Amino acid sequence: MSTFTPEDFGFTFLKDGTSVQDLIDQRIKALSASDAKDAFYVADLGEVMRRYLLWVREIPRVTPFYAVKCNASRPIVRTLAALGTGFDCASKYEMHLMMSLGVDPSRIIYSNTIKQPSNLKYATAHGIQKMTFDNEAELVKIAQCCENAKLLLRIAVDDSGSMLTMSKKFGAKLERCPELLKQAKKLGLDVIGVSFHVGSYCMTPVAYTKAITNARDVFDMAAKIGYKMTLLDLGGGYPGFSLPNISLFKEMAVDINKTLDKYFPVSTGVQIISEPGRFFPSSAYTLAVNIIGKRVDMEKSAYDGKEDGANSKTISYYVNDGIHTSFGSVIFPYAYVLPSTHKRSKPGERFYPSTIYGQTCDGHDQIVEDYSLPEAQEGEWMLFNHMGAYTVTTMTEFNGFPKPETQFVMTRKAWQRLLQIAAAKGDQVLLQQPSPHDEPDACCLVKPGLARKHNLKGKEGK
Ligand SMILES: Cc1ncc(COP(=O)(O)O)c(C=O)c1O
Repeated sequence: MSTFTPEDFGFTFLKDGTSVQDLIDQRIKALSASDAKDAFYVADLGEVMRRYLLWVREIPRVTPFYAVKCNASRPIVRTLAALGTGFDCASKYEMHLMMSLGVDPSRIIYSNTIKQPSNLKYATAHGIQKMTFDNEAELVKIAQCCENAKLLLRIAVDDSGSMLTMSKKFGAKLERCPELLKQAKKLGLDVIGVSFHVGSYCMTPVAYTKAITNARDVFDMAAKIGYKMTLLDLGGGYPGFSLPNISLFKEMAVDINKTLDKYFPVSTGVQIISEPGRFFPSSAYTLAVNIIGKRVDMEKSAYDGKEDGANSKTISYYVNDGIHTSFGSVIFPYAYVLPSTHKRSKPGERFYPSTIYGQTCDGHDQIVEDYSLPEAQEGEWMLFNHMGAYTVTTMTEFNGFPKPETQFVMTRKAWQRLLQIAAAKGDQVLLQQPSPHDEPDACCLVKPGLARKHNLKGKEGK
C-alpha cells in the first residue's frame, strides 16, 4: 500500500493558472526585496511524468530502470516509483533508499561493476539479485557473497559519439567475454543477460544500434557455453531535453525499436530494460542564481576614449552557485549549460560576451565562458534550464557555501494523471483528499482522519 499525498511525495500544488515561470518570477520578486538572495531551484514533477509518458510512447518494449545516481531527491524517485519504473542503484545507500519507498527488489538492478563486499551482502540480504560484472575478480567476490545473484555481463561498446565516455573504465571487451562466461560457469553463477552503456549524453542513435548488435553476439557466445540469456539492459545515455525542432531521443527510439526487432524480436522472450538517468529529471529543474559581483573589461583603446568601447566590451559575472555546487558536471567538455538573464531582453538590445564565474575562491570555478547575453546588473538574477541531472547529487559545501534548496511543484492535472497511472499499475492508492474549503495549496498538509482509501483501478474499470 502506498500513500499518495503531496506531502508524502514532497511537493506543493502550483496554484491554478500559475506556471513554473510565474512561480520563479514571484519568488525572485520576494527575495529581491530582502537580503536573502540565495540561489534556488524549482522542480516540476509533472515534467518527470511527461518524460515517462514520452519514453513509454517511443520505446514501449523497454522498461526504464531509472539511474538513481543522477538525482536521488526523494520527490523524484517517489514519482518514478509511483509511475512503475525500476531503479538502477550503485550503492547500499541507493538500494536502501528505494527499498524504503516500498520498491520491490525485483525492480532494482545493482548496476555497479565494482562492488564493495558489504554492499553486496546488503543486496543479498534484501533479495536484490540482478547485478552487473565485467571482470574475473568481481565474479569471485560475487560467488563468495551472493551465490543467488542473477548476473548481467557488462560489455564495452563504442562510446565515441557521447559527451561523457564510459568504456575505458567499464565493460569487458567482446573478445574477453567467452573466458568470463566460462569462469562464471565454473563458479556456478547464473548469468542471465548483457548490459552496456553507450556513454552519457549520447549524441548519435547509431551507438545503440551497434551496441545492441554486440549484445546479440554475446547472447550467442553465451548459448554455446550453456547459458540461455533472458535479459538485455541498454544502459543510459539518452538526452535530458529536446532542442527546438530536434528530438534526438525520438531518432534514437526509431533505431532502437528497429534493431531490437531484428536481433531480439518479441518471440525470443528476452526482456529489455534500460538505465536512463538524465532523461527523466533534467528538464524538470530550473535554477535561479543571483549576481553577486560584476566586472566589465574593455580593450585599451576604449579606456583611452578613442571609441565608446561597446564593441570590445566583455563582462564577467560572479554568481552565488558554481562548480562546487550545481555545476560540477561542467568539467565535462561541451556539457550543455544554458544561461539566460532573468530580466527579458528588449528588442534590439545589445548582447555581450559574458563569462559567468562561481562564488568560491577556486580559480577554475567558471560556469560558462564568452556566452552571449544582454547586460545584467549586480543584484539581478540569472536562470539555468534543464538542471535536474548530476547537479543536486554532486554538490559539495566547499568554502562553506550552502547548497541551493529545491521547491518541488506539480499541477493538479498532472497529479490526477499520476494517480491514474499508479492505480492502473495496481497500486492501492491511499489518497489525501483536500476539503472544498482548503486553500489551493493547503491540501499538501496531512490532516489526520481525512485520509481515505481509494482503489482508482476499480474506479477506472467502471
Ligand atoms: C551504470 C550506469 N547506468 C546508467 C547511468 C545513467 O546514465 P545517463 O544519465 O547518461 O542516462 C550511468 C551514469 O553514470 C551509469 O553509470
